[in-house]
Amino acid sequence: MSVVDEIKQKLDRVEVVSSYVALKKAGRNYKALCPFHTEKTPSFVVFPEGQSWHCFGACGTGGDVFTFVMRQENQDFAGALRLLAQRAGVSLKPRTEADLAEDKLKKRLREINERAAEYFHNLLLNSTGGEGVRSYLNQREINRETIGRFQLGYARDDWQALGDYLQERGYQREDILAAGLIIEREDSSGHYDRFRGRLIIPIRDERGGVVGFGARALDDSTPKYINSPQTPVFDKSTVLFGLDLAKGAIRREGLAVIVEGYMDVLTAHQHEIANVVASMGTALTEAQLRLFTRFSKRFALALDADAAGYQATLRSAALAQETLAERVVPVPTPGGLIKYESHLDVDIRIITLPQGQDPDKVIRESPALWVELVESALPIVEYYFKAVTSELDLDSPKGKAEAVRRLMPVIQEIGNAVERTHYIQKLARLVRVDERTLLRQAGMKGKMAKRRKEEGGALPDREEFTFGLEEYCLSTLLKRPHLLHSLDEALRDVGADGLNVDDFVQAENREIFASWWEGLSLKEGLALRQACPERSRRAQDIDLEGLRGELDPTLHPRFDLLLEGPKGAPPLDDDRAEKALIEGALRLRQRKLQRLVEELRLLQGDAEELGGAAIEEYGQVVDSYRSALWGISQALAARSFFGRREASLNWRLEIGGWKV
Ligand code: UTP
Ligand code: MN
Repeated sequence: MSVVDEIKQKLDRVEVVSSYVALKKAGRNYKALCPFHTEKTPSFVVFPEGQSWHCFGACGTGGDVFTFVMRQENQDFAGALRLLAQRAGVSLKPRTEADLAEDKLKKRLREINERAAEYFHNLLLNSTGGEGVRSYLNQREINRETIGRFQLGYARDDWQALGDYLQERGYQREDILAAGLIIEREDSSGHYDRFRGRLIIPIRDERGGVVGFGARALDDSTPKYINSPQTPVFDKSTVLFGLDLAKGAIRREGLAVIVEGYMDVLTAHQHEIANVVASMGTALTEAQLRLFTRFSKRFALALDADAAGYQATLRSAALAQETLAERVVPVPTPGGLIKYESHLDVDIRIITLPQGQDPDKVIRESPALWVELVESALPIVEYYFKAVTSELDLDSPKGKAEAVRRLMPVIQEIGNAVERTHYIQKLARLVRVDERTLLRQAGMKGKMAKRRKEEGGALPDREEFTFGLEEYCLSTLLKRPHLLHSLDEALRDVGADGLNVDDFVQAENREIFASWWEGLSLKEGLALRQACPERSRRAQDIDLEGLRGELDPTLHPRFDLLLEGPKGAPPLDDDRAEKALIEGALRLRQRKLQRLVEELRLLQGDAEELGGAAIEEYGQVVDSYRSALWGISQALAARSFFGRREASLNWRLEIGGWKV
């Protein structure tokens, strides 16, 4: 029996599901309000016998206990497996001696940390020495309830207090050292306490276990904070301060706000702004963001307006957004095949604080202002746009150049083509420069910079790129331009326009296609597009060498690869090449229309917010795109070349790894 089967057998599905939603018995089955969409009458059903659940309402989803936990906990399969295995008491893999020893060590370190936190907290509340910290907290308007909720503490100004306390209670010196609470003297004559004479802030993991400490000086002495070192249970770059207390609110509100400091979190929670966590002064890491995605897909970063280090955070956030953004999910097709679709997932925004303020101060002075600031948080790229427009004179040539220099690299890093295009257009409008000029820069400089960065210096002599759908179509057209005629005809058959530059998204491909298109003399171009196959054959003579010469030299490697065609692909005869080209182009058009629909939906969203009359018009346009899409998918389904599954598979193997 597989582990998955074993888990399924051991777990009571109804029990698992009812730990998340309130199930009511209805006949043989159980019903509830669907947790995955909002509804008033229950249409979410669990079938105890069939091992499955299904929502018969708006969302229409269903599955087994694994898919349920995956959705509910925002986990991938491996994550759900781990959770459920634990719940079922099934061990996933036999653990080695070393694993067990490591587990035991971690358990001991956590326990020592818990004990230390209690010790510090007790001193803060009850010792006369704690008076200094009590009045410090008082002066910073941190109240008793917050002190209790975060279990804040006081470390006496003493070299041995904590070490002795823990050892007297039977904890081993080695373990206390490993927990980072005491430090070995250099001459190994003994040890001393790490935290002395400070306010103690226990740092917990998302489940509430104490993994480390931050300790603030009570005056202006430096360093301001001393933190636990890296230990088997504490890694500053993967922990977020406050997440244990914030996760409920983050899930409820669908938004996590990330600030820099411990104090900001304390103050926020005290004011019942509970969706706030701190990155503890380091640039936000992808691991930290990943930790969140289980609770929310929307984040807002609060950055000091005048902080010098925020560029690093912005960049890491932008990159993290890219890597987290594309979640690829398998979708079953009607034909019983699985295709993969990527979903845009993560939304990271930037909160700009007033000059010289931090969240702590803003919230204490005006919680309402804080709410306003959070609500007006901007997407990262918008944030850059705002900074640039407020700092530069965009009427001067110098200002324009500077704006392009600053914004283009940011835009370049956007992985989603729809968004990237949107911002390039926005930049073009802003600096009043032709979009194509920008695109040309974007296509080349950006790509080169990126590659150089990735490979740590030297540019490869030959550009490597995957032969995608765009490249396949472009390559075929370059080599067999006479096929353009039947291609256009096929597009016309479904009521669509002929192939054009906008069917291509990649800047380089657009450029090559556009030059090729211009290169066809007007007459030849017309001949190609008219119902005159014989004449269009003359286009075979198109001067590819001349075309190459007209292209920017950075495009030459790509152009050469396009002429070579996909690696290892056996030559197709004209008939098959034509079919493949037509299907490829139909798919390109399909993608383009899907992009447009997506864009329009964004616009519709805006229009709804602004309450404009445009909503209906957008709706009509969307409908027209949808019917065009319908026509195309019909045509695609009817094409026997790919209609037969095997032919399609073989063919894909033949041209080698293009992504549909
Ligand atoms: P801040 O200087 O903004 O700290 O540093 P803060 O929490 O707002 O403290 P107050 O308001 O000055 O009392 C932000 C975070 O950077 C880390 C801490 O996690 C701090 O909360 N930091 C800062 C350190 O780890 N060490 C330091 O010396 C300074
Ligand atoms: Mn502060």
